[in-house]
Amino acid sequence: MITISENLLQKIYSDLRNERRHMMFYLTNAVSMNGLLSEEYSEHFMSNAKEEMQHVKEFQEMIVGLGGSLTAPESIGCDMFMIENDVRRAVSSALYLEEQVVENYALRIEEIENDTLIDIVTKKWLVVFYEDQLKKSRTDVDKYKRLIA
Ligand SMILES: [Fe+2]
Repeated sequence: MITISENLLQKIYSDLRNERRHMMFYLTNAVSMNGLLSEEYSEHFMSNAKEEMQHVKEFQEMIVGLGGSLTAPESIGCDMFMIENDVRRAVSSALYLEEQVVENYALRIEEIENDTLIDIVTKKWLVVFYEDQLKKSRTDVDKYKRLIA
């Protein structure tokens, strides 16, 4: 049973696809970088790919819990992502992706809070869920800013 509006569900599907995009970005770029620091950053990116895989899992479980579908066309696959050879450019791209998602989730929390169709329990659950995701990404933003400073 779907407990939220179709409009919001479509946005959550899009967020799942974006988390999958992040996972693919880190996984691919972990082996695309060249140079002296590439081995060190490769390990870092592999660890981030694993974290993003956990986010994908969390989104998928949340969607199924809401009564959504993981086989809906809107929740399948992911959009294009950048592939970099240079460590600094790869970290800058990671910073861009994480900054984008923090902004996106801040907006999503507003939309959830303003949605009058969701029951109070689901609303609170979604706010906590997105706050947790936002916190993880913002922590990465701050770290990447320091790394490329
Ligand atoms: Fe993520």
